Amino acid sequence: MAEKRIAVLASGRGTNLQSVIDGIKNGNINNAVLQLVVSDNERAYALERAMANGIEALWINPRTFKGSEDYNDAILEALRKRRIDLVVLAGYMKILSAAFVRAYRDAIINIHPSLIPSFCGSGYYGERVHREVLEYGVKVTGATVHFVDEGTDTGPIILQQAVEVLPEDTVDSLAKRVLRIEHILLPRAVDLYCRGCLRKEERRVIIEAN
Ligand code: GAR
Repeated sequence: MAEKRIAVLASGRGTNLQSVIDGIKNGNINNAVLQLVVSDNERAYALERAMANGIEALWINPRTFKGSEDYNDAILEALRKRRIDLVVLAGYMKILSAAFVRAYRDAIINIHPSLIPSFCGSGYYGERVHREVLEYGVKVTGATVHFVDEGTDTGPIILQQAVEVLPEDTVDSLAKRVLRIEHILLPRAVDLYCRGCLRKEERRVIIEAN
C-alpha cells in the first residue's frame, strides 16, 4: 500500500501534532508521511513545531477570505496540491465546511477531549470541556478519536479511552491527564488508518488486524 500523505490542521500549541510527529519518528505510526501543517492562527505554536521538524507550515489567514466557505476552499486547494490522503484535526478550532467534508469523506480524523457523545458538539472545545465535566460532576471522562462528518463531533468513533475524574481535580489537572491519553490515542488511530486497518459498517468503525 502506498504511503499515506498526512496534513495536520491545528490552531494552538500543538501537543497532539507533536504526538503524530513523534509517532512517525519512533515507528509507532507506519506507512505515513507528514507533509503539511496548516493553521488559522499565525501565532500557533503548532507552526513552530512543524518548522522545527522540517515539515511545511502554512498559516492561512481566515480574515483574507469572504467567509467560511471560501476559507475552507483555500485549505482544500492547499491539500489537493500536495496530494494529501488523510487530514488530522489536532486542536483545530474552526468548523469544516460541508464541501471540505465531502472532499475528504472518511479521511478526516479529529481528537476530542471527552467521551463522545458526552461533553461535545458546538461550544465544547479545549478547557471548556473539562470545566463542564467538573461542573456536571461525572466520575468518568476521557478522550475520543473519530471520523469527521458534517456535524460537530458526530462522526463514527475510532478509539476511546476513559479517564477517572478525581475529587481533587481542577480543570488543569484533569486536562493534563486527558491529554496524556490523547497523545496515545491519536497516533494509534493515525497508524491504524495509514495501515488500512479501519473499516466502516454504518456508524461502526471495525478495527482489523493487518
Ligand atoms: C486538545 O485537548 C484537543 O483534544 C482539543 O484541544 C486541545 C488541543 O491541544 N480539541 C478540541 O477541543 C476539539 N473540539 P493541543 O494543541 O496541545 O493538541
